[in-house]
Amino acid sequence: MTENKPRVFPSDFVWGSATAAYQIEGGAREGGRTPSIWDTFSHTPGKVLAGDTGDVACDHYNRWQDDIDLMSELGLGAYRFSVSWSRVQPTGRGPAVQRGLDFYRRLVDGLLDREIKPVLTLYHWDLPQELEDAGGWPERETAERFAEYARLVGEALGDRVQMWTTLNEPFCSSFLGYGSGVHAPGRTEPESVLRSAHHLNLAHGLGTAALRSVLPRTAEVSVTLNPGVVRPYSDSEADADAARRIDALQTRIFSGPLLHGAYPEDLLADTSHVTDWSFVRDSDLAAICRPLDSLGINYYCPTLVSAPTGDEAVKGHDGHGSSSHSPWVGSENVVFHQHPGELTEMGWSIDPTGLTDLLLRFHGESPGLPIYVTENGAAFDDKPDASGQVHDPERIAYVRGHLSAVHEAIHRGADVRGYFLWSLLDNFEWAYGYSKRFGMVYMDFETLQRIPKSSARWYSRVIGSGELPV
Ligand code: NOJ
Repeated sequence: MTENKPRVFPSDFVWGSATAAYQIEGGAREGGRTPSIWDTFSHTPGKVLAGDTGDVACDHYNRWQDDIDLMSELGLGAYRFSVSWSRVQPTGRGPAVQRGLDFYRRLVDGLLDREIKPVLTLYHWDLPQELEDAGGWPERETAERFAEYARLVGEALGDRVQMWTTLNEPFCSSFLGYGSGVHAPGRTEPESVLRSAHHLNLAHGLGTAALRSVLPRTAEVSVTLNPGVVRPYSDSEADADAARRIDALQTRIFSGPLLHGAYPEDLLADTSHVTDWSFVRDSDLAAICRPLDSLGINYYCPTLVSAPTGDEAVKGHDGHGSSSHSPWVGSENVVFHQHPGELTEMGWSIDPTGLTDLLLRFHGESPGLPIYVTENGAAFDDKPDASGQVHDPERIAYVRGHLSAVHEAIHRGADVRGYFLWSLLDNFEWAYGYSKRFGMVYMDFETLQRIPKSSARWYSRVIGSGELPV
């Protein structure tokens, strides 16, 4: 890598930031919105740290104009946000609620007026509670309901949104929602994990077809995955096998069917004692594997694993929250180790080389498929100083390192078209509530005041110049 020269990005590189509906909107009972699984989960004692909920969050539902002004001041070229399903289709069935759609219409129009490209995610984990009551993602019908919802939103916003993403990180919806239970709906059922993963894949496929049937031909459809960068602890065969198993469960269970039209053989073999996969119907794989216009990749940190060591003391965590239930269906004996080196406030190691590896891996697997880094960022313990300013040099260092890693991947041939910093605002960090701050803008959750951190100023300068300074 050329450390002593500024790293110049392609002139059409998309510079963005990302958020998600439940994490920022609030307005939980406004405009006809009904509870999603995250409303129910966060209101269940003991599920979210300090009993935090997304009832108010950043109150973006009422303050969205301030937020898009802020984006404009920072010079963002694109904004990735998600639609709250239960705001536009409260029961998960039937016609759309116009008030719900109008909220997103106004948001999108405001973005377009400011020349900020809207990048819309249909599902960022907030299933309408009624669909969970009917069985949730382990049930095939949820995928069919998703396709109908995708069509409704596509019809309403297809004239103004060009970039569409079906799902965000289906790994978390299935493995954390139905396996470890650290995410909503908080179920711990091994077979449901795999059924959910399949039905999320199917939802993507059916949703993509529904979108294509209503969107203009120029619209782009994508999916966002959080593939693992799984590294073996040693060069032993047993550790390589542990890494292979986790890679199958975290990454290839999605990328296999979505990008290549098949579940990996090793995954089917590793999980055969949990399920016979008879919920996969003959025509499903063809329905799932639809041509995509791009692939979204979220990356935060690598994972270090080994075969059982017999020494509990070396056991680390898997980076996905603690639970007495393993999400790793069929690979419960794999040991997770703490990566050496610096950690973020999440306890996640900082390793930008993982991002280069991931981008090159997917470029190699799907040549010709453009890639966006749809999330990357870090939580640190940010606080305003005596003058009210928030200095976050650690975040600047983290983002600088990872942008450099993106640049390196582009230099080595990967077709990476853009980068979305997670996140615009400090927000509701799922089971960690408001205790983890990922924003480049500080949120005072008492007054709802927004204070751009020094990382926001820094990122704004990078966007303006299109290069990473030395
Ligand atoms: C990925 C998720 O998409 C996002 O919702 C979450 O806040 C970040 N990771 C940080 O954990």
